[in-house]
Amino acid sequence: MKLIRNFYVFCNIVMSIEDSAPKLPEEKESTSNYSSMSLRKVPTDLTPTTITLDLSYNLLFQVQSSDFYSLSNLKVLILCHNRIQQLDIKIFELNQELRYLDLSYNRLKVVTWYSLAGLRHLDLSFNDFDTMPLCEETGNMSHLEFLGLSAAKIQKPDFQKIAHLHLNTVFLGLRTLSYYEEGSLPILNTTKLHIVLPRNTNFWVLLHDGIKTSKILEMTNIDGKSQFISYKTQQNLVLKNAKTTTLLFNKVDLLWDDFLLIFQFVWHTSVEYFQVQNITFGGNVYLDHNSFDYSNTVMRAIRLEDVHFRIFYIPQDRMYSLFTKMDIENLTISDAQMPHMLFPNYPVSFQYLNFANNILTDDLFKKPSKLPYLQTLILKGNKLETLSLVSCFANSTPLMHLDLSQNLLQHKNDENCFWPETLITMNLSFNKFADSVFRCLPRRIQILDLNNNKIQSVPKEIIHLKALRELNIAFNFLTDLPGCSHFSRLSVLNIEMNFILSPSLDFFHSCQEVKVLNAGRNPFRCTCELRDFIQLEKYSAGMMVGWSDSYVCEYPLDLKGTRLKDVDLSELSCNTALFVVTIVAIMLVLVVMVAFCCLRLDLPWYLRMLGQWAQTWHRVRRTAQEQLKRSVQFHAFISYSEHDSLWVKNELIPNLEKEDGSVLICLHERNFDPGKSIAENIVSCVEKSYKSIFVLSPSFVQSEWCHYELYFAHHNLLRERSDHILLILLEPIPSYCIPTRFHELKALMEKKAYLEWPKDRCKCGLFWANLRAAINVNLSDTGEVCELQTFTELNEESRGSAVSLIRTDCL
Ligand SMILES: *[C@@H]1O[C@H](CO)[C@@H](O)[C@H](O)[C@H]1NC(C)=O
Ligand SMILES: *[C@@H]1O[C@H](CO)[C@@H](O)[C@H](O)[C@H]1NC(C)=O
Ligand SMILES: *[C@@H]1O[C@H](CO)[C@@H](O)[C@H](O)[C@H]1NC(C)=O
Ligand SMILES: *[C@@H]1O[C@H](CO)[C@@H](O)[C@H](O)[C@H]1NC(C)=O
Ligand SMILES: *[C@@H]1O[C@H](CO)[C@@H](O)[C@H](O)[C@H]1NC(C)=O
Repeated sequence: MKLIRNFYVFCNIVMSIEDSAPKLPEEKESTSNYSSMSLRKVPTDLTPTTITLDLSYNLLFQVQSSDFYSLSNLKVLILCHNRIQQLDIKIFELNQELRYLDLSYNRLKVVTWYSLAGLRHLDLSFNDFDTMPLCEETGNMSHLEFLGLSAAKIQKPDFQKIAHLHLNTVFLGLRTLSYYEEGSLPILNTTKLHIVLPRNTNFWVLLHDGIKTSKILEMTNIDGKSQFISYKTQQNLVLKNAKTTTLLFNKVDLLWDDFLLIFQFVWHTSVEYFQVQNITFGGNVYLDHNSFDYSNTVMRAIRLEDVHFRIFYIPQDRMYSLFTKMDIENLTISDAQMPHMLFPNYPVSFQYLNFANNILTDDLFKKPSKLPYLQTLILKGNKLETLSLVSCFANSTPLMHLDLSQNLLQHKNDENCFWPETLITMNLSFNKFADSVFRCLPRRIQILDLNNNKIQSVPKEIIHLKALRELNIAFNFLTDLPGCSHFSRLSVLNIEMNFILSPSLDFFHSCQEVKVLNAGRNPFRCTCELRDFIQLEKYSAGMMVGWSDSYVCEYPLDLKGTRLKDVDLSELSCNTALFVVTIVAIMLVLVVMVAFCCLRLDLPWYLRMLGQWAQTWHRVRRTAQEQLKRSVQFHAFISYSEHDSLWVKNELIPNLEKEDGSVLICLHERNFDPGKSIAENIVSCVEKSYKSIFVLSPSFVQSEWCHYELYFAHHNLLRERSDHILLILLEPIPSYCIPTRFHELKALMEKKAYLEWPKDRCKCGLFWANLRAAINVNLSDTGEVCELQTFTELNEESRGSAVSLIRTDCL
């Protein structure tokens, strides 16, 4: 498996390397587009995998089988707008996949048929055939759905060859039509028939036959200025076997009278939906409109779009009532420059009226009308001005949908509005409404579009629109979000492009049902007030339309252009109360911690010790070299009273020497050099040591200190070299215990230059570290090599206790 996979990957790589030339990705590779390249011959280097080949708008005059036989995948071949004169369909014999073949707009005169069974779409329209290019084989292409044809002569026998084909669309694109045999078209079996007529053709007979042919009939290019007379003979023609229900006219240029006659004709056929697009009328009116026979019809909807008048001599009111009297379901007359419309004074059954993009004015509503079935009224793009007039007109109908967009509508506060209860959607966009429009709205409205007006705020004292679900107030002048106090069911709100700086909280409290909110492109002021708004998107993701690109700060200026998403407005920086509480809380915690440390952990003691330690270090560094010039042999000399000897031997010495024995200590005991006095011994010891450590305790003061007092006083030591003395306070010594004659000791104690022996065992670490730091000096720097020597001597005064002196003999 793995091997196969690897091989596959390898192949892909090789292929992609080969393809990396200018070739397009696979998707496009299947389409080869050679449109508009002035080609005279089909290119020979076509990609064999081509599925769609476009050779339209070239100068090809001939195609042959060698052009396409290599394209075994070809499905779509477009050869329209060329100069091909003849064609043998057999050249596509090898293109078994061919489904779509477009040969329209060529100069074909002859086609030699071959049954291409798979073909669905074949277009031979707009060619130069004399007769229909159909034969037996055409009838064998049973999958054909679209067939485009052209011929100068249309005869029954031609269509008979394909009569049994069930086509979807037959398209007759005619360049000329010199002869039409009546009854030819109805032979075809197709759902839709589309005829594009050449100029000045007698369309009557084609319309006639067309209506008998297909369900949908479309005719393009109807201009029959000269056919009024020919119609006369046919106007009372009764149409049997009519099939068309949808009739579409396109590009019509007729005399009004001719148009009227067409209407009358179509009226009595099977047509239910009649649409005319792009019509131009002209000429005088001779026919009497009152003679229009409205009876006997199945017509339901008429749609006239893009109506132009060449010469307008038609009495208007007669023209309007021609349509409104038709009494059908749907009527559309749009883009017709129509200034007015009249309704009969009896009830008519219109359900849908669309007069969009005309020039209708308020006059439309002046005359009472009876439209008891009207559901939809579209009056967009007119020149209406007064909303209350529309409301009165609507109130006599069961109107549901009203489109009044793109007018000049306004509403004045003193005018009363009466809307029907049925009205549920209203489009009032692109008008001139101000805030007062909210006083003229139907009670049951569900969807309301007010975009592009001049609304500045939603007034507080309007009626409750309980059913309103969608409200669009985009492109207005609102300075705040409207609350939902008047629209309790609102779920979609659009307030894009207004002047909202910071949306108020009222919105968030009252608009609980809103699911979709578009508030983009407002000039937001990015201050703390905006926090709730930004939170809204965080908590209900997807609610804001256009998030986050359309939501950008406008103020303050240093944030201009920043997306709301990226603005940092944290809870702390915005909530003053919270800010104060937080600061106070932090302070409290600090105070509590400090208090705890002081009370429980004796922080001041630690601080003092650390301070001493730091000082010592500093001093040692500063003075070490200078001090060592003296002939120093010991790190320290320790003096203590017999009473404290246990502590010295069990605690002090082991701890000072603990590291690696490199600390040399001179231990004081009385009479250690019998040849000298005690004071002389002490002085020599003090001078040979880098530091002198005195273990102070009441007993020491009483028994030992006297030896030193004189010496210190004499040598002025305290003032000059006081940092060579280290006092360890083993037990507190009340000041009354120090005899008054010990001036120097008093001075030392006052300076507080002593280390207190902590009662708390866990504090001892720091004590020892401090002490060690104080005596830490490199003795070998002095150039003397000393040897450690220990000897023990029996003490006279305190017999039994071992007295030891550690000293060095310098070599
Ligand atoms: C070929 O290109 C022309 C414009 O150059 C375009 O109109 C036509 O649709 C393209 N044909 C296909 C099959 O994409
Ligand atoms: C049409 O097809 C039928 C059977 O499919 C065949 O008998 C007949 O000969 C074909 N006609 C032509 C003209 O190819
Ligand atoms: C026309 O074709 C439809 C199917 O598309 C078929 O039902 C109908 O019978 C055909 N009519 C005639 C007259 O052959
Ligand atoms: C009339 O208009 C309505 C609304 O656009 C549409 O639903 C209906 O299908 C139309 N009726 C006809 C017969 O075209
Ligand atoms: C209202 O009319 C405008 C313009 O005519 C249109 O763009 C908009 O989509 C309409 N609104 C609704 C809700 O149909």
